Amino acid sequence: MTQKTSSVASSNLSGTVRAPGDKSISHRALILGAMAEGTTRISGLLEGADIMSTAGAMKAFGAKIKRSGDGIWEVIGCGEAGLQNPQGDVDCGNAGTGVRLIMGAAAGYPIKARFTGDASLSSRPMNRILTPLKEMGIHSKAERGGRLPVTLTSDGQLSPISYAPPQASAQVKSAILLAGINTTGLTEVVEATPTRDHTENMLRAFGAEVTSRPEKGGQRISLTGPVQLKAAQVNVPGDPSSAAFPIVAALITPGSDIIVENVMMNPTRTGLFECLTDMGGFLRTDNFRKSGGEVIADIHVKYSRLRGITVPPERAASMIDEYPILAVAAAFAQGVTIMDDISELRVKESDRIAATIALLTANGVDAEELENGMKVRGNGGATVAGGGVVATHHDHRIAMSALILGLQSETAISVDNASMIATSFPTFFDLMRNLGAEINA
Ligand code: S3P
Repeated sequence: MTQKTSSVASSNLSGTVRAPGDKSISHRALILGAMAEGTTRISGLLEGADIMSTAGAMKAFGAKIKRSGDGIWEVIGCGEAGLQNPQGDVDCGNAGTGVRLIMGAAAGYPIKARFTGDASLSSRPMNRILTPLKEMGIHSKAERGGRLPVTLTSDGQLSPISYAPPQASAQVKSAILLAGINTTGLTEVVEATPTRDHTENMLRAFGAEVTSRPEKGGQRISLTGPVQLKAAQVNVPGDPSSAAFPIVAALITPGSDIIVENVMMNPTRTGLFECLTDMGGFLRTDNFRKSGGEVIADIHVKYSRLRGITVPPERAASMIDEYPILAVAAAFAQGVTIMDDISELRVKESDRIAATIALLTANGVDAEELENGMKVRGNGGATVAGGGVVATHHDHRIAMSALILGLQSETAISVDNASMIATSFPTFFDLMRNLGAEINA
């Protein structure tokens, strides 16, 4: 289903809203719950389409998964019997995290499974997972040059490996660790740049011994298998990558004053907030507390005069999904913002460097594509011309970024399809309208 939507210049945003459950942690809670012995209880699960795809996939592998209230879910894991051979294809929808982590998890059991996805997911590279899994002993067949559909065949007898992923990727790290659970011996991932650590943290909560030691600016993560994971309670904290949209909306809309509650402050995820603060944005973090093993806080945001910055490349892993919305903030800053060394953006739900530059330039922003990055010349806080119809390429974050840009445009900005927003942020429209934003289907 496609759904055309547009946003128009809004007056000041105000109010208090709650960030939806974190997508990364929601995927992991279902996958680890399915592998574990016993009943995992989850609160605050993100009920977005990506997570529903993962729930469907884990059911296909034999877990019993049921919803008993808003964000409240129960997973009865396969435990000692292990994941079962799925009947038919395992459709992972739009979810890159889902498919890559599930392939790693499934690899340790005797299975044959064919993984499929939508058009966007079917264009994304899978060799980054299949290469280390092959080293561990998995046979895989990708029907379209390293893309989905992919059939994995495993006899369940994997060997542990020590692997240094060539790209900074939490998905690659996680797939190897999840496969390592069912090997005998030491599985290690050596990261040149630390990435989000949710898999390590959750594996510990499910009873695995996982150590992380700093090494040459990065880290070495070690896990000794085999491990029988034990069910746990998971309270999913709010997603900083979703909170990013109302936060930038308030920063660029004159007179705005909002609070976004329940935002996870894990330092592997907060790079955008550091950038917005460096740009002169008013972001005050209050009420720090712990939930589900993560620190969460409420973020108070006010309209601010922003200035351009050069984003430190070493911050990329902690804000990898936030560059499109940072580029929108940069459009209103005084001066130039440079975001470089982010070639990983080219293999997200869309080529996010090309898609972001296209969305900005179609609406009158002075922006330029670099070989591995983006350069945005801000207008110092005026409205942008707008009027463009943005091609979202099935990418939820491009759609939301375009609609936020539209809140400060002279003419409405439209997106060709807003239905994908439901993959990560099903409450986006209600939440933004509650703050006073004018977004029309
Ligand atoms: C994720 C890791 C990141 C991120 C994605 C979620 C995860 O991908 O872009 O949205 O939950 O592990 P990479 O591992 O490919 O960088």
